[in-house]
Amino acid sequence: MGRLDGKRVLISGTGGGIGRAAALRCAREGAHVVGCDLNAEASAETVALARAAGGRMDAIAPVDLATEDGARYWVDSAAALAGGIDVLVNNASAIRFGPVDKLSFADWSFTIRNELDIVFLVTRAAWPYLVAAGGGSVVNVASISASRGAFFMAQNAHGAAKGGVLGLTYQLVVEGGPHGIRVNAVSPAMTQTPHTTPLLADSGGPAASIAARTPLGRWGQPDDVANAILFLCSDESSHVSGANIPVDGGAAAVG
Ligand SMILES: NC(=O)c1ccc[n+]([C@@H]2O[C@H](COP(=O)([O-])OP(=O)(O)OC[C@H]3O[C@@H](n4cnc5c(N)ncnc54)[C@H](O)[C@@H]3O)[C@@H](O)[C@H]2O)c1
Repeated sequence: MGRLDGKRVLISGTGGGIGRAAALRCAREGAHVVGCDLNAEASAETVALARAAGGRMDAIAPVDLATEDGARYWVDSAAALAGGIDVLVNNASAIRFGPVDKLSFADWSFTIRNELDIVFLVTRAAWPYLVAAGGGSVVNVASISASRGAFFMAQNAHGAAKGGVLGLTYQLVVEGGPHGIRVNAVSPAMTQTPHTTPLLADSGGPAASIAARTPLGRWGQPDDVANAILFLCSDESSHVSGANIPVDGGAAAVG
């Protein structure tokens, strides 16, 4: 018996670190996973890994979810492949950094589009399928950056976008309730993925200070986040809506 047996689970950004881990975890627990990514090669690698482990997974790639057409195309194609949607994991994002007096409006807008608009566009497209299924679960991957600044990275647009993701999450809790749709978030702190590995490997970088500021003494791994996502996808969280689970080694609990 898998924890997601029979569930049709859409996960965005399955070519990346956390998206791949979540896809493999959900497929291992019996879900039919449909992923997607801008990066077709990385997306295909994840599908191959899931299938090699005996899981059921498809993906649509390349697709740009930060466009109305791209978001609808992925969601409609995924629903057709899986026969509907029970769970949506909004994981894909792309970020541009820079101090506030240097960040171009184009880079600000890119980040808002690829971190916040993307969640709205995909959720809007998936909502009628969740309603038709009689309810379901939406899991938004937010970030510790939604609630605090960082010394090591000028992440103003990122923090603003992820704060928006949390605000959207809370409103969707209310709109989803009457349909049996639960909406929750996970908020990772630094997690080692293809995106962050160069930063963590930089000997003059923030790796040591991040570990030192984290009560559990280490940064996260994609599976740490995937396990929290899995709980929110599954019926084990059937009375949980509006939660924001920190996956941060305890960092959010200290000043
Ligand atoms: N890694 C961390 O330290 C960390 C910390 C907090 C939150 N997060 C969040 O976790 C999620 C996953 O992060 P990750 O580190 O695995 O990133 P990643 O860069 O490894 O993976 C993200 C994937 O999303 C895809 N993507 C980006 N924009 C897209 C678009 N418009 N359409 C389709 N696909 C698109 C990318 O191609 C990539 O494969 C993100 O929402 C990120 O903000 C990560």
